[in-house]
Amino acid sequence: MPLKSKPAGKLISFEGSEGSGKSTQMARLAKRLQGVGRSVLTTREPGGTEIGEQIRNILVHNLKGDEMTPETELLLFAASRAQHVRELIAPNLTTGVIVLCDRFLDSSTVYQGIARNLAADPVAQINRFAVGNAMPDLTFILDVPTKVSLARIKQRASDLPDRMERENIEFYEKVRAGYLLLAKSMPERVVVIDGTQSEAVVEKKIWAAVQKVLKT
Ligand code: TMP
Repeated sequence: MPLKSKPAGKLISFEGSEGSGKSTQMARLAKRLQGVGRSVLTTREPGGTEIGEQIRNILVHNLKGDEMTPETELLLFAASRAQHVRELIAPNLTTGVIVLCDRFLDSSTVYQGIARNLAADPVAQINRFAVGNAMPDLTFILDVPTKVSLARIKQRASDLPDRMERENIEFYEKVRAGYLLLAKSMPERVVVIDGTQSEAVVEKKIWAAVQKVLKT
């Protein structure tokens, strides 16, 4: 009998505004995947590696962060991503692991490109340089109205909003619209899910899409 070959690794990213339920759904998907015998790695951006977490600290928590230019911000997110892909994501994909990533390159396209108004071309080029061959096989955008997202940020247990969370409603409206635009341009990879539905319903929809990708 021929040896059964190892299933291929897959990269699945979760995107959306703050408070859209990404982390909850990633944890639910990880459980489902483990339940069918797949090895899973959950990780996040910015971060995921020691260097990446240090960069995250500058990006999210640095008190001087308000002085950061959009260009610097883009390059720091990209630097975290370049490290993440080479140190953690790519090696895991080669051994058949399913990598679930809380935010990936689409966050830069939307937050730095669209919401911060950086030109699309350099953002796309820098994204490509940072990820190399590690493009997501599937991306979920959890879409919630901006007001819901902002209310969820406020409800969070953590004390003060971080640097990005201090942005105004117009910024988050741009983020939301940017994600929806991105999804339209890449329907083969990006699935938009209404994040105002119950957690169980969102989980089911995610699982249906993931099962299709696992068969490929
Ligand atoms: P998180 O709070 O979802 O972990 O993400 C940290 C913040 O960083 C969030 O406001 C989104 C933002 N971000 C970008 O602006 N560009 C990026 O490329 C990434 C990965 C995150």
